[in-house]
Amino acid sequence: MQYRKWAYEDILAVAALEKECFRDPWSYRMLADSFFSDSTITVLAEEDGKVLGYGFLIAPGEDADLANIAVGTEYRRRGIAQGILQSLEKRAASTGVRRIFLEVRVSNAPAMSLYLKEGYVGRYVRPRYYGDGEDALVMEKLLPQG
Ligand SMILES: CC(C)(COP(=O)(O)OP(=O)(O)OC[C@H]1O[C@@H](n2cnc3c(N)ncnc32)[C@H](O)[C@@H]1OP(=O)(O)O)[C@@H](O)C(=O)NCCC(=O)NCCS
Repeated sequence: MQYRKWAYEDILAVAALEKECFRDPWSYRMLADSFFSDSTITVLAEEDGKVLGYGFLIAPGEDADLANIAVGTEYRRRGIAQGILQSLEKRAASTGVRRIFLEVRVSNAPAMSLYLKEGYVGRYVRPRYYGDGEDALVMEKLLPQG
């Protein structure tokens, strides 16, 4: 498994996984805009030339926000999301990020378990954060300083 930054050509595969994994997927255009932003940190997991999962952070300063992370349904429970998250955190720390925040649907037990395992702590609930009215739990992790 290789964990690497996105190239422009990867955005199609990332957009396809977004559609597969989310009810409210980021569009190709939104992903491309993020890709070209200086404050975006991207990682994808690739095996035999196939993109199996991806994640990206919006990191304008010391605080970053996990924009999204997903792994194709066939490739789950192989530690791929953990690998993506750890790679994102390493890259973020090297650019001066000290804290990562994220929002997760309160019904999303797999994602919450992943974040708890990786050291994220629940902070507060954002009521009706999502378009369909579901609440978000905001989680936070302080990155170790090098
Ligand atoms: C959440 C998601 C990214 C996890 O990807 P993954 O590659 O399967 O996760 P990993 O294999 O790295 O799992 C790491 C740990 O997370 C937890 N976990 C992951 N999936 C889980 C599940 N379905 N049920 C319970 N715990 C789960 C476990 O603790 C797991 O460790 P273990 O397998 O040793 O028990 C994946 O389920 C996904 O893409 N979901 C749809 C998109 C999504 O909801 N993204 C998060 C948005 S906030």
